[in-house]
This record gives sequence, C-alpha cells and structure tokens, in this order.
Amino acid sequence: MENLYEAIVNGLYDQGWYIAENFISDEFRKELLHEQQEILVHGQFRHAGIGKGEAFRIRPEIRSDKVFWLDPINLTELQEVYWDKMEALRREINQRCFLGLRSFEAHFSMYPPGSFYLRHLDQFQNVKYRVVTVILYLNDSWSKEDGGALRMYLPMGDGNEEIMDVYPEGGKLVVFMSGEIPHEVLTTNKSRISITGWLRDIEY
Ligand code: OGA
Ligand code: MN
Repeated sequence: MENLYEAIVNGLYDQGWYIAENFISDEFRKELLHEQQEILVHGQFRHAGIGKGEAFRIRPEIRSDKVFWLDPINLTELQEVYWDKMEALRREINQRCFLGLRSFEAHFSMYPPGSFYLRHLDQFQNVKYRVVTVILYLNDSWSKEDGGALRMYLPMGDGNEEIMDVYPEGGKLVVFMSGEIPHEVLTTNKSRISITGWLRDIEY
C-alpha cells in the first residue's frame, strides 16, 4: 500500500496537485492552532504583502490576511514537528519528481472576517524559486456558510480551466505546483487559520 507521502507525490506528479484530508492528528492540529493564537494575541502578526524585495507592497485590495513568518533557526518544538514533516515531503518529492527542492519557508496565516486574497500564482514575477505550495489548515470547524474557500483554477489540457473550491477544514493539507495553478481565497466570514509553506529550489 502506498503511504500518504507517496500519494501526495503521485498526485503532484500526475496532476500538479493533491489534497490530504487528514494530514495531521487532531491533537497536533489543536496544539498548532493554540500556538498560533498565542502569537496572535501578542501582536506579532503583520499585514501580508505581495512581491519580493523592492517589489514588495502591502495591498489590502489584493490580499487582506495577516501573517507570521516561521524562523527556521528559531523554531518552537511544535513548529519543528511541522517542519520535519515538510522536510520528509521535500525528500519524497525530490526522489520521484527531480524538482531539485532545496529549502522551505512558511508562515502562519490569519484571514480576519471579511478578508480574501485575489487570484494569483505563488511565484513572484522577479524570482521564481517557489516550486511547490503546501497549505495546512488549522480551523476547529468549517461549513460552506463560513465562505473562505480556496478556489483553485486547474489547467485542463485543452486550455480551459476547471474550478475547484476547497474548504479550509482543520487537518487538511493542500499541495500544488506554485507556478502552475492560479488560485484565490474567497471572502471569509470568520477567522481563517492556516500554515502556508513553499518548497524552494534555492538554498537558504
Ligand atoms: C497564499 C495563499 C491560500 C489559502 O498564501 O499564497 O494562496 O488557502 N493561500 O490560504
Ligand atoms: Mn497563494
């Protein structure tokens, strides 16, 4: 039987994306959510921006989430567990897909009620080192009425796109090719929590 990591890599290889419904245990999810909320009450989240380097801008009309970047040389115990899982995934992807993934970056995200992120690709215009996007949702519960779906525009062979809405249910991991799958976050009606990371083809 193929394990979860193999299933993710196969999905990525065959179709450019994969969704693992229960990537982490509910216990670990709650711990991460709790830690995220601690960081939040201490005011350490910042308005997210777009672009890299000199092109960086805070543009709330494009994205209105708040983020807290994980510091790879200063991870908490819990963040370390998450990081190790992403490292395992990185090695598994490299074995099968030869994408030459060499490093990882990630931030906690919080979308307050009323916030969104318009359609985009996860590669910057000036630098394209983000190769694979991994999003892990931490929310306690989610229903359609809460909004906030991740809308993925899946490229079809014929040049058309298929729309797929993914709800940010806790424990779910979404993996996709950063430069190939446009996506957006529809307006959320309640606070929406996740960790978003990118496997990169550059060194730290
Ligand atoms: C991003 C992003 C999607 C999500 O942070 O670039 O597209 O579902 N996030 O949180
Ligand atoms: Mn994105």
